[in-house]
Amino acid sequence: METKDLILRNWQDSDAKALYEMCLDETLRKSGIDFYNSITDSRNTIQCWKNDRGFKVIADKRNDNFIGFISLGGMNRYDGYMEIEYAVAARYRNNGCAMQAVQRMLDYGFKEMNLSAIAAWVRSHNKESIKVLEKCSFTYEGRLRKHARDKSDTLCYSILREEWEGLRRLCIDIRAMNYDDIPSICRADGDESKKNIDYLKRQLDNQEKGECTALLALYNDAVAGHVFLYHKCRWGGLAGHNIPGIVDLIVFEKYRRKKIATMLLDAAENIARQHCNKIYLDVCLNSDYGPAQRFYIKRGYIPNGKGAYYEEKICETNAVCRNDDELTLCLVKEL
Ligand SMILES: CC(C)(COP(=O)(O)OP(=O)(O)OC[C@H]1O[C@@H](n2cnc3c(N)ncnc32)[C@H](O)[C@@H]1OP(=O)(O)O)[C@@H](O)C(=O)NCCC(=O)NCCS
Repeated sequence: METKDLILRNWQDSDAKALYEMCLDETLRKSGIDFYNSITDSRNTIQCWKNDRGFKVIADKRNDNFIGFISLGGMNRYDGYMEIEYAVAARYRNNGCAMQAVQRMLDYGFKEMNLSAIAAWVRSHNKESIKVLEKCSFTYEGRLRKHARDKSDTLCYSILREEWEGLRRLCIDIRAMNYDDIPSICRADGDESKKNIDYLKRQLDNQEKGECTALLALYNDAVAGHVFLYHKCRWGGLAGHNIPGIVDLIVFEKYRRKKIATMLLDAAENIARQHCNKIYLDVCLNSDYGPAQRFYIKRGYIPNGKGAYYEEKICETNAVCRNDDELTLCLVKEL
């Protein structure tokens, strides 16, 4: 099996040394991966994996160097329910290897092994692995408290066959936005003004400072929309409450009604959930925002109970104000 940079292949005796060395790494042990007392020990273990069709070595496509491993294994449920586990050696991290391997293994699991669901259980402190799962569109299901052997919590994620099929059909990719994206965002938005460029730059500067996550949606590789998730949002009805807030969700016109906003918000909510059990946003009350109003309510966002806001201040009963973009309702969702 291949990806852009990797091959996923069966185990060989010659992988024993690299497996042994990889598992000496402290960060891998913290994630719950077993380690081996010697190369002989790891070679003996490899014998059981050689014929396991769901257990692959992740290797560099150019030279077959051992990068890590990935597996689909039973969880003592029914045949079509499996768990994915993976590990990447320290020196190969931060190159997108895990993501490529997970996406390829999902295709293999659903297409070739005919699975119904793939689960992933990850220790709550393993932020890198959580990011990989979220980028691969796994859904967060819940937290098993002090469940891991190191007494940390286990976070449960999964992806269902129908969700994977939906992703393939939709060709939607959600990823972090960067400065190089600005020209294509402005083109897609039909607004290449300096004001828009500066606005996007400001959001990305805030991302650099760790204040927000800027997510970009691509549809068949074309820029289709974006959203900014502020981790402690400074605007709107719940400004200053240290709650994550959704800012400027937009899907450009020709890409609407393709579930792109759904995927952007899925991704943003998954990130927000790591920090807080609530998320909020402000939606304008005029009819230009009708689709957004319906979209948020259907997703479980409910008004914060303070009535309408005008220019970010509560609008007193009987106050007169214009129905422009300053007239908003603050919506909150429990995560
Ligand atoms: C609101 C917006 C982000 C939705 O984007 P989208 O990618 O088209 O939304 P999705 O395809 O994920 O739609 C999800 C659901 O939202 C609701 N929805 C979306 N657009 C709708 C519309 N025009 N009319 C009624 N309901 C709509 C539907 O329930 C839809 O599910 P369905 O297609 O299965 O019926 C998009 O219309 C937009 O960018 N609008 C302008 C900017 C904006 O209002 N941003 C919000 C600022 S607070």
